[in-house]
Amino acid sequence: MSVTISVDGTDVTGRDGQTIAGVLLGAGHRTWRTAAGQERGIFCGMGICQDCVLTVNGVEGVRACQRAACEGDVVEREVRA
Ligand code: FES
Repeated sequence: MSVTISVDGTDVTGRDGQTIAGVLLGAGHRTWRTAAGQERGIFCGMGICQDCVLTVNGVEGVRACQRAACEGDVVEREVRA
């Protein structure tokens, strides 16, 4: 079974049960956040570093490596100074 999420306005499809980070990585995204001018994506993969945070359904600071992707999620890149 598949799950489709919107990532910065583009639909991305992954497998049911994957985290948002898993869906993004599976779709070829290696980074999805900018912090202090540098691209960030997944680092620890277990909820500690917070390098993977993004906005999900309007909630900022969601850790992509810990949040299961749900059908229709709206995911947005975060840019922080
Ligand atoms: S990759 Fe470290 S918290 Fe998600």
